[in-house]
Amino acid sequence: MKKESIEMLIEAALDARNNSYCPYSGYAVGAALLTAEDKDFESRIYKGCNVENASYGATNCAERTAIFKAVSEGKTEFEAIAITGGSKGENPKDYAFPCGVCRQVMAEFCGKDFTVIVAISTEEYKVFKFNELLPEAFGAANME
Ligand code: THU
Repeated sequence: MKKESIEMLIEAALDARNNSYCPYSGYAVGAALLTAEDKDFESRIYKGCNVENASYGATNCAERTAIFKAVSEGKTEFEAIAITGGSKGENPKDYAFPCGVCRQVMAEFCGKDFTVIVAISTEEYKVFKFNELLPEAFGAANME
């Protein structure tokens, strides 16, 4: 991915973080998912934040919010996701890696070359291929 595209996706993830509903953990996460569509860059982005619940297990992570939003609107092919996280009301201080459940949801829709960007800021980030984060994933092929 081009540096400029990575930075734009990180900006969108940071923006999504502002809507995080995290009264229980105080840990705000923002994600920006890029669909593989022949459209302008901005309209290919689906943003998501974590949405917590008083019944903690009902919480939805930012990555899954973004993926479910896109799938519910008919998009199932994805190129990349940027993820940012940290204490609510503060800039991220460390990398927020996707949890195991979110990696499994990514495995459902994203190929092994899907790009995962974990970012502290537009200047400080790491780029991974999905296969590096969940090798040998259980997926649709196992169910054939
Ligand atoms: N969280 C995410 O949004 N994404 C992850 O991949 C890890 C964790 C959220 C869930 C919860 O609201 C808060 O971070 C603390 O676990």
